[in-house]
This record gives sequence, C-alpha cells and structure tokens, in this order.
Amino acid sequence: MSVVLSLSGVSRAYPLPRRRLLGPRPMLQALSDASLTLSAGETLGIVGESGSGKSTLARLVMGFDRPDAGRITVLGQDINALPAPELRRLRAGFQMVFQDPFGSLDPRRPVGWSIAEPLLADPALDAPTRRKRVAEALEQVGLRPADGAKFPHQFSGGQRQRVAIARGIVTRPRLLVADEPVSALDVSMQGQILNLLSDLQAQMGLAMLFISHDLALVAHQCDRVAVMHRGRIVESGPVAQVFSHPRESYTRSLLARPETKSADNRELVNNTP
Ligand SMILES: Nc1ncnc2c1ncn2[C@@H]1O[C@H](COP(=O)(O)OP(=O)(O)OP(=O)(O)O)[C@@H](O)[C@H]1O
Ligand SMILES: [Mg+2]
Repeated sequence: MSVVLSLSGVSRAYPLPRRRLLGPRPMLQALSDASLTLSAGETLGIVGESGSGKSTLARLVMGFDRPDAGRITVLGQDINALPAPELRRLRAGFQMVFQDPFGSLDPRRPVGWSIAEPLLADPALDAPTRRKRVAEALEQVGLRPADGAKFPHQFSGGQRQRVAIARGIVTRPRLLVADEPVSALDVSMQGQILNLLSDLQAQMGLAMLFISHDLALVAHQCDRVAVMHRGRIVESGPVAQVFSHPRESYTRSLLARPETKSADNRELVNNTP
C-alpha cells in the first residue's frame, strides 16, 4: 500500500502569556516528537483528552501551521520544504473536514461557491468543469446538485456537514483529515455521516486521519489508532489490539473514563447549543 502521510519526530510549542512583565515567556509543548504513517485506503484514529494536541497535529498535517522540528510528508512531498505555488498545487491532494461545518462555508454565498473554492487552486479547471465537479461532489454526499444554490443556514446540521464533506472531496484528494467530524451532530445523524465517510473512503481509496475523543466511534471507524497524551503519541497500533490490550496505563485510564464513551457524549452533544 502506498504511504500517503508520514510524520517523523514532529514537534510544536506555543508561547504562553508571560507571568511577569519582564519574566521569561513560558512555552506550551502542544506536540512532542510525533511519528506516524498512513497508507491509501486506511483510517487512522487519533484519540486523547481535550488539549492533548490532536488539532495541533491536524493543523500541521494540513500545512496551516509549521512544526518547530521534524518532517511531515504528504504524497511524497515534504510540505514545509515546498515553495508556495507547489504547495497550492499539492493542496488538491489533501483536504480537511472540521467539527463545525460553518467554519468552512461562507454564510453569504451559496454553498456551491464554497464547495468549488478548493478547485480554484487548479488553473486548468474552467468554470463549466468546476460546476460539473461540484454537482458530482453533492451527489457523492447524498445531496442534489440543485442544493448548491442554497445558503448554509438553509440546511440541517447533518446536511451542512455533508456539504462540508463535499467541499473536502471535490478536488478528489488522497488524504482527508477529519477533526471531530460528527461531535456537533446528534447521535442519529452521527451514524449517517460516519457511514458516508466510510463509503467515500472505499470508493475513492482515501486515507483518513480521524480525530475524535469518542473511543467507541474510533473503534468502529478506524483500522489503527494513535493515543495522544500531553502532546505525545503514547501508544499506537491496530484498533482491536490497542483497545482490548492497551500497553500503556494512560490508554487504560482513557478507556475507563466516562467522557470518552459514546453514551455520555450523547448528552454532551445534545446540550451543545
Ligand atoms: N495557537 C495556539 N496558541 C497557544 N496555545 C495553543 C494554540 N493552539 C493550541 N494551543 C494549546 O495546545 C494544546 C493542544 O491543543 P489542541 O487544540 O491541539 O488540543 P486537542 O487535543 O485538539 O483538544 P480538543 O479535544 O479540546 O479539541 C492546548 O493546551 C491548547 O491550549
Ligand atoms: Mg481539537
């Protein structure tokens, strides 16, 4: 299987506010020495409590942020060594879906515009081709091409996440990074969106980085899992192995915690405004 993503020794620290006016600037090590690989067609789950560095990892993989150390290779290219125009071209190959679909959709424009936006990076695609690709992407996520003319607020939460996924796949990427893609949805919607992601993955041979604090979802969705704790990957391996025979005490404690289990997440999710 071809390797789509690899991280080797990746670290990122953020400066925190000074405690005293002229004191040293404290640093927060959000990610420490992270290494992983992900192949075509495979789903790697990233789990860990809030603040463990999951979204930091996702932002670095997407090239939205740069590591202080280490190397990130996407589709064989070191994304932090690529000149901007080449990174823009490579961008079609890796896309992201966020927890909040509003984040990637422009509230003032029909969603078809937002779905088409990633295609603008490829000057070879003319307007009719872009329209065709948007219509295809809408159908792939179970919506109608005509839905492209609607505005984000005209969709339900689940439909809006479908639109965000259409934007994520419209360039026909090889890697999809999904950061808590269903945690803002109610449980009945979660299953539909997860099935959609699995179907798309099978059809497109997508490699997926699936970030979630819900271990049951990860067990269902992923082939392998990496457990993060305070910015470090403390354990990784096939999902069944890590969850049924965790080697690390931290993984065992995570498995025992109520907030990482679906039943409790449901309440949490439903209480989210
Ligand atoms: N731009 C930033 N500046 C300063 N600190 C940051 C920044 N981004 C993240 N952090 C800190 O880095 C740590 C890791 O954050 P991150 O968002 O990666 O966690 P997470 O695992 O995604 O958490 P959650 O499950 O809550 O989404 C946190 O302590 C966070 O406060
Ligand atoms: Mg996060």
